[in-house]
Amino acid sequence: MLGARQGTVLITGGAGFIGRHLAKALLSAGYRVRVLDNFLEQVHGTAPDRSVLAPEVTLIEGDVRDGAAVKRALEGATHVVHLAAEVGVGQSMYAVDHYVSVNDYGTAVLFQALIERPVRRVVVASSMSIYGEGLYRTVEGDVAEGIRRPGLLDPVDAAGRPLVPAPTPEWKNSTLASVYALTKYVQERLTLTLAPAYGMEGVALRLWNVYGPGQALSNPYTGVLAIFASRLHNGQPPMIFEDGLQRRDFVHVGDVVQAFVLALEHPAAPGNVYNVASGEHRTVRDVARLLAGAMGRENIDPEITGKVRSGDIRHCIADIGRIQDELGYAPRHDFSEGLAELAAWVAQQQALDRVAEARADLEKRGLVA
Ligand code: UD1
Repeated sequence: MLGARQGTVLITGGAGFIGRHLAKALLSAGYRVRVLDNFLEQVHGTAPDRSVLAPEVTLIEGDVRDGAAVKRALEGATHVVHLAAEVGVGQSMYAVDHYVSVNDYGTAVLFQALIERPVRRVVVASSMSIYGEGLYRTVEGDVAEGIRRPGLLDPVDAAGRPLVPAPTPEWKNSTLASVYALTKYVQERLTLTLAPAYGMEGVALRLWNVYGPGQALSNPYTGVLAIFASRLHNGQPPMIFEDGLQRRDFVHVGDVVQAFVLALEHPAAPGNVYNVASGEHRTVRDVARLLAGAMGRENIDPEITGKVRSGDIRHCIADIGRIQDELGYAPRHDFSEGLAELAAWVAQQQALDRVAEARADLEKRGLVA
């Protein structure tokens, strides 16, 4: 049985893309919602729009590393959803101190405050990045470690044999390939270690590539669909790394919200990690083409750069059996409808295209080659 929908949920980073959608869903389910957010310029621009949050939300403006702000935000909270994080894989490879500080020290500060003021349940946004390469099988069907060799796009096994990407279940070992992945792993482990030690329930959701209206369009460091949308909106070709045949699972933000609500309420969730995805996978090249079509820009061909971004993995596709079986999760959003919705939203937006700048940033550090 789902829990009584009473209580106050604190969403850290709740003014961001996922947080805003989640705040709305929780308010309509009957929760009170508080948001702790610092309106980071890279995400929100220089003139942040605070009206993205429903008027019923109590907003505490502050950094998750500021213990006093976190304590204020926790007053009266019964549940926490921890979303506050820096989220660019490429950027994490040079802004190392900043990523470790916001993501890991920030989570430490949150738990330091929770020790004194515990809540019932803490749900943390972890990431598929902690798997590194997704699960692979040999052509005979045996599980094998996918190793990315310099000069080869597709991972091979230790003996150099070709492999086939397979849906990745939660039991796959972590092979952390970027600073971002490392920090997400620490966030997840801090939550699952400290919550039960202080009588709280902890749950971690490993999110795949989330997309939908409201995604930061002017942040060139993350979210390939938003980056491509921003390029196309400005009449520019999407820039595809590698050959564009890398595979991901793109999950609509509405389905991610469903997963968070289940993780907050379901009695079977505590102590567990769950993959959150759509269960379908696509190549980056296909999504570039489909998005261009949805935006009426099919005349703009993507630029296939052939370059590899440091920290990127080749394929990671999701096995969502566990969250379906244990929590009753059921993704409802069709991808082409989701793209049409994204395109309609983007058409109403101003999107600053900072992709060339971000690429130059990576190139000058030798992180795209
Ligand atoms: C990564 C993380 C994921 C995290 C997400 C949020 C991994 C394996 N995954 O996803 O957990 O939630 O970031 O930051 O670390 N690409 C282009 N052109 C672009 C931008 C990206 O071709 O302009 C390609 C990338 O090289 C990559 C794919 O698109 O192959 C997806 O990139 P991105 O949206 O940044 O997300 P992931 O790296 O998959």
